[in-house]
Amino acid sequence: MTMQGMDTPLTRLLGIRHPVIQAGMIWVSGARLAAAVSEAGGLGTLGAGSMRPDVFLDQVRKLRARTDKPWAVNLPVFYRHVPEIVPLALREGCRIFITSAGNPATWTPVLKDAGATVLHVVATARQAAKCEALGVDAVVAEGFEAGGHNGPDELTTMVLVPQVVRAVSLPVVAAGGIVDGRTMAAALALGAAGVQVGTRFACTVESSAHEAYKQAIVEAGEIDTVLALKSVMPVRLLKNAFWEQVRAAEARGASPEELRDLLGTGRPRQAIHLGALPDGEIEVGQAVGAIRDVPAAADVLAGMVDEARIVLQGLARL
Ligand SMILES: Cc1cc2nc3c(=O)[nH]c(=O)nc-3n(C[C@H](O)[C@H](O)[C@H](O)COP(=O)(O)O)c2cc1C
Repeated sequence: MTMQGMDTPLTRLLGIRHPVIQAGMIWVSGARLAAAVSEAGGLGTLGAGSMRPDVFLDQVRKLRARTDKPWAVNLPVFYRHVPEIVPLALREGCRIFITSAGNPATWTPVLKDAGATVLHVVATARQAAKCEALGVDAVVAEGFEAGGHNGPDELTTMVLVPQVVRAVSLPVVAAGGIVDGRTMAAALALGAAGVQVGTRFACTVESSAHEAYKQAIVEAGEIDTVLALKSVMPVRLLKNAFWEQVRAAEARGASPEELRDLLGTGRPRQAIHLGALPDGEIEVGQAVGAIRDVPAAADVLAGMVDEARIVLQGLARL
């Protein structure tokens, strides 16, 4: 376990030891994973986007019982239960919200009025500037390497992060493709004040994803993901039988409505929660090829921070 903290504007804003946010992920980031990361000095996040309000309440209470360190709740703005979850989260003492997949104007004023810290996920520098004008406290700049839902414009983390850093004076968190100390150090070199890590934490002992999903990540190679369904709702997933169906439908000119019907509902749950890999939407990031094991979340965090420090020291000697 790493002992030394890393001081950045993000660690100061959030009151955490290491500038690493465990990303909110549907069907993956429940109380167990979030508590493990928060206890290890990062920011654990409950992925509320797959939780009904009663499940959320149960998870938030379990999380609070396991840690007294800072933690966050991720709210995908389009998720239909968000209006019920926000008051519950505030009542249960959530102080940090990471909103995503929607307009930052929808929830920022409400959350700021309640005294919370708000981070919003952006895919362009223009969206980041809008967040700053609305009073958001920090932005997560998510490149199209990232697992799950994605911006349609395919800006990579490498290209996006420095432009967001130039566009705003807020702390910028880099997301998409960060899996180890080298990629974390690269994000800091681009001007980020910290990183948000999804796929690497989805493939840990404490992740609530199905074992078959974790095994698929371990076995996946560098060219096995794709940004699919761009005309409907762009999402990065592992190529499988479902994706072949999408590809065939697109090749014969299927309309967005037909694609939406093909997608239906519940495909991420099928893959990530139930382990039905051929028919599900296996949301993972492009960096799956770099993941070869299923360690404890605390070991991922400690290894990442220690390696980043070594890499940065090595570069300083050049
Ligand atoms: C399985 C999975 C589920 C995700 N679910 C959400 C979600 O509910 N809300 C959200 O804002 N982002 C979601 N994401 C994106 C992550 O929060 C994060 O930004 C992304 O995974 C970072 O890229 P990486 O996977 O390369 O680390 C998800 C990602 C994955 C892999």
